Amino acid sequence: MHQRINEIINDGIAGLFLYEVETLLMHNDGGKTDIMNILLTGGAGYIGSHTCVVLLEQGYHVMVIDNLCNSKAESLKRVEKITGKKILFYHEDLRNPAGVDAIFRQNEVDAVIHFAGLKSVAESVDQPLNYYQNNISGTLVLCEIMQANGVKNLVFSSSATVYGNPETVPIDENAPVGAFNPYGRSKLFIEEILTDLSLADKAWNIALLRYFNPVGAHPSGLIGEDPSDLPNNLMPYVSQVAVGKLTELRVFGDDYDTPDGTGVRDYIHVMDLAEGHLSALEKLASNPGLVTYNLGTGKGYSVLEMVAAFESASGKQIPYKIMGRRPGDIPVCYANPSLAEKELGWTARRGIDEMCADAWRWQSINPNGFV
Ligand code: NAD
Ligand code: WQD
Repeated sequence: MHQRINEIINDGIAGLFLYEVETLLMHNDGGKTDIMNILLTGGAGYIGSHTCVVLLEQGYHVMVIDNLCNSKAESLKRVEKITGKKILFYHEDLRNPAGVDAIFRQNEVDAVIHFAGLKSVAESVDQPLNYYQNNISGTLVLCEIMQANGVKNLVFSSSATVYGNPETVPIDENAPVGAFNPYGRSKLFIEEILTDLSLADKAWNIALLRYFNPVGAHPSGLIGEDPSDLPNNLMPYVSQVAVGKLTELRVFGDDYDTPDGTGVRDYIHVMDLAEGHLSALEKLASNPGLVTYNLGTGKGYSVLEMVAAFESASGKQIPYKIMGRRPGDIPVCYANPSLAEKELGWTARRGIDEMCADAWRWQSINPNGFV
């Protein structure tokens, strides 16, 4: 690489090739590729905003489409504050083909990371049509417009929920799939749609990333998870109890076949998850076709272990009450993340103490989220 630049300069034609040199540098710095201009759907949300930070810090150009149905534009302003870099933000619904197409025509897009979607299991049971409409139609519109504009690199936010109730743990990518609620099925259907797309057209490069349980926040305390209603997930609920917004945690079941009877999950720091997207983008540049990776730590922690870790990170006591099991919950779920390590060179580095400390910093500095 450097030899090539030197040759150009020594030939005395550096000026003429300035653009070429800059481009070569940009595309090869630190192992980066010619995938540089990244569009994030749902980029204002929890995982998307943290991924924006990682991409901007690595020199990528970042565009975001978000309809802000479950996020605030303030998250992106905070990302700009953290990184000192600009994001091109489009307040747009992914299901509006004309609006999305215009964004692709106005910009050079090399790859898309597709976070946009609705994600509450309970809400999906009450509103299946809304979930299928948003998640599946949004993805179809996106893929059609990508195809029409010749953009065929895609990273998709899938979920460990596609494994349903796993027969064995740790779960690897070849484990049987079978979700049992509309949210999970929407993820599974999208995985199948994207698989069909890659079979029909070998030019597509698609990474299906199956996230386990994302928690934590950026260490600055400037961005984090900001549920618009009562939190459904464990750690945002615990954070809101710690900050005094909720009175006590309800622990859903202590009679599972686990060491302390409470449910066991693979909690992964959102910054590790964000870094996994960077590795997936780098993988797409090698034209792999369709690839599927678990993004988890490989370790399982119980509800009570997470509560204890949060108490020591925050110095706050978390009052809790044992309740009956939550319908649809599974006892144990954790990843075998070795494929991502082998093929992406990615592993989760942060432990539960760091997850809890960062979640608490975000919650205590921003008790009402981005408001
Ligand atoms: P989030 O709700 O914080 O972010 C999703 C973003 O998508 C929001 O900003 C929302 O406003 C936007 N959005 C939704 N529908 C849209 C549409 N039609 N057009 C434009 N924007 C739209 O959720 P998150 O936790 O950041 O999750 C991101 C993705 O990862 C989702 O697809 C989710 O299903 C998936 N996922 C999340 C988890 C988790 O526990 N957080 C686990 C596994 C997978
Ligand atoms: C974790 C543990 C609960 C809340 C969900 C989705 C999954 C994925 C991640 C998107 C369980 C217990 C929880 C509470 C509790 N999302 N719990 N009291 O259920 O593993 O996964 O979010 O893809 O699809 O299903 O995460 O954080 O809700 O629960 O005791 O108030 O905490 O029973 O054992 P879950 P969770």
